[in-house]
Amino acid sequence: MKGLNISMKRLIKNGTIVEADGSCQADLLIVQGKVTAIGPELEVAGDVEVIDASGCYVFPGGIDVHTHFDIDVGIARSCDDFFTGTRAAACGGTTTIVDHMGFGPKGCDLHHQLSVYHRAAEGKAVIDYSFHGVIQRIDEGILAEMASMVSEEGISSFKFYLTYGYKLGEADVLRALMRLREVGALSTVHPEVDAAITVLRDQLVAAGETAPMDHARSRPLEVEAAAVAGVINLARLAGDAPLYIVHLSNGLGLDYARLARRAGQPVWVETCPQYLFLDESAYLREDALKFILSPPLRPNVEQEKLWSGIVDGSIDTIGTDHCNFPYSLRLEKTKGDFRCCPNGMPGAENRMQLMFSEGVMKGRISPSRFVEITSTLPAKLFGMWPEKGHLGLGADADIVIFDPKQSSNISHAHLHDNGDYCPFEGMVCQGVPVMTLSRGEIVASNGQFTGRAGAGQFIRRKPFDRGLLAQHRCSQSIKGNNS
Ligand code: URP
Ligand code: ZN
Ligand code: ZN
Repeated sequence: MKGLNISMKRLIKNGTIVEADGSCQADLLIVQGKVTAIGPELEVAGDVEVIDASGCYVFPGGIDVHTHFDIDVGIARSCDDFFTGTRAAACGGTTTIVDHMGFGPKGCDLHHQLSVYHRAAEGKAVIDYSFHGVIQRIDEGILAEMASMVSEEGISSFKFYLTYGYKLGEADVLRALMRLREVGALSTVHPEVDAAITVLRDQLVAAGETAPMDHARSRPLEVEAAAVAGVINLARLAGDAPLYIVHLSNGLGLDYARLARRAGQPVWVETCPQYLFLDESAYLREDALKFILSPPLRPNVEQEKLWSGIVDGSIDTIGTDHCNFPYSLRLEKTKGDFRCCPNGMPGAENRMQLMFSEGVMKGRISPSRFVEITSTLPAKLFGMWPEKGHLGLGADADIVIFDPKQSSNISHAHLHDNGDYCPFEGMVCQGVPVMTLSRGEIVASNGQFTGRAGAGQFIRRKPFDRGLLAQHRCSQSIKGNNS
């Protein structure tokens, strides 16, 4: 660990320490990268660096379980690699990312992409990281490989797509769900009905309608909600295979997930800041190409429906889906036809601040709920608990300190990604992440990156733990009944 004094003690004093189940005014001691004591006015002997967190919140570091760093999507490669992507995340208060691997060459096996991604991240990531497996076809070999991906490689979640080039058909989705349940993995899904997109898109193109708004018209929310309902039913048929819906963008899809959850089905839901803070009117802007992603931005009435899910507990996590293609590249590729624009947008550095400002500071959610959706539940769902996702004794000292008194105006000029724009440009946030610590080391301070490429460690994740999540559901319904 060249250049780092890992034996150094750090004492965070006078902050409000917030966990998913409560908060307290206390000091927090870090020794060798772990939380070793929490209490009022801790006295510490020897060499200790004191960090004054008076008036600030001390949160578990954010966990962003949906990024796409260094992804090759065929028509382009994203501009953030594991260095610039994790640097941006760290400066925004995130201390762990789980990246969705991109598709590999036709016919490749699951381990192929894992090796590619290990090579891409090693020596570059500045914070801890892991990967979701990617399923681009199903056959006996792939089904067999899933077991060793979980038990030997620590990859305990996989994503399959219902649209794009390597979409799975229903029979393969069912086989994947069954096998992933069996091997202790969480299935994550990009839900959009591909056949519907094809019909709608072909009609638009035939009519010469290829502007950015036509991207949204080719994939309306029913396209996504129908796929959410369909895959939930397949997961039920697969023996209640645990299912995680990524980047949910609308209230109808959320209602289908709610119905399943009420029936006791293990279904989990992620949404992203872009669906909470942006809407489809962005496709009428001059710079509309900045907002091409799938699912697309929705009519703004969907935003409050998603917020209601965050408040009532039916949305579990906030990911970013950070997939950064510069605006300049989008202009160059698109040439008047939305089908040619690479899909995705950046956001890893903005997630924590936006959710804190719009969620906590605007009184929509408590500081504890903020912790739950940005850190605790991601850790529990994706096999990183109890090392990550809270600040209890023995946990990794992954911490973000937020000053609620400071405000800032989001500007790409101050961000740390490798792109050329921020979709949230100009938004004013109340509350600023003033310091981020990864395993006790300060990786960002007052908007400056202070970490090191390669300091992040690969997290070998544990199998999906139904018991852990059942406990969460149980305490959630008790809280709900009491309110
Ligand atoms: O448009 C998006 N969201 N691109 C990233 C890949 C995905 O679908 O998550
Ligand atoms: Zn997706
Ligand atoms: Zn994605």
